[in-house]
Amino acid sequence: MNLHPTLAESLRHQESPSSDDWEATFRTMVLFDLAADMELGFFLSYYRNFAIPGIAASLYGNGEIQERPMKRSYDTAIVIYELIASGLDSERGQHMVALLNRAHRNVPGSPKDYLYVLLTLLVVPIRWAQHHAWRQPTGAELAAASRFFAELGSRMNIHGMPETYAEAERFFDQYEATHVSPSVEGQKLMDATVQVFQSRLPLPLRPFAARLISVMLADRRLVAALGLPPLAKSPEPP
Ligand code: HEM
Repeated sequence: MNLHPTLAESLRHQESPSSDDWEATFRTMVLFDLAADMELGFFLSYYRNFAIPGIAASLYGNGEIQERPMKRSYDTAIVIYELIASGLDSERGQHMVALLNRAHRNVPGSPKDYLYVLLTLLVVPIRWAQHHAWRQPTGAELAAASRFFAELGSRMNIHGMPETYAEAERFFDQYEATHVSPSVEGQKLMDATVQVFQSRLPLPLRPFAARLISVMLADRRLVAALGLPPLAKSPEPP
């Protein structure tokens, strides 16, 4: 096997891998082919939970995000990337799954809330990549990503995981249509977390951090629920 494939060679493989290779297919997508866009997508999925009042209340009650927003944002990314890079059943993967189960032991939340948070990690980065990456995710990548999060969910005792990517999107959109709403807790969490994003920007862009997040989320209802600067009206078509 070619250990250093070009992106074009990798794409050929990502179009028709064996379905047993779901973990390797998802890993190549996240760590190599679509790496920058998937990273930004995971970052955006993190904000989404603040627009669900019940989840925001739980996160706010825990206190860590508002006290150490940088640490919590990086911890979440480290856990997800460890799972993807090492594999769910590797020694590191098993440690991460145990850590997730320990961290949530006393966290209140309905089964649908847990399923939603899991699906933000599937749907948000893929939608971002579909709109902004240098190429579209392949059908095999969508299936591999869906399988990865279904397998993670089953290791976290989260049931009712949709079987296909299309069903996952339907659940995600329906849940947001009935749950996204402003809350005091959600807005405080968002304010604290904007700092994390700001610190990653070049100095001249820092005053625009909140506005940039609005533009990247590109969703008026979500932006309003998070208390972010409203999106400018798109120009009328000629
Ligand atoms: C499957 C979906 C979920 C994933 C993948 C996930 C991911 C994470 C991660 C990576 C951590 C940090 C663990 C650490 O560094 O110690 C964490 C902690 C936490 N999560 Fe989740 N989460 C999920 C669902 C939820 C839901 C639905 C809620 C709220 C209703 C929630 C609330 C919390 C809280 C409050 C903590 C902090 C716990 C502590 O520090 O004691 N999570 N989660």
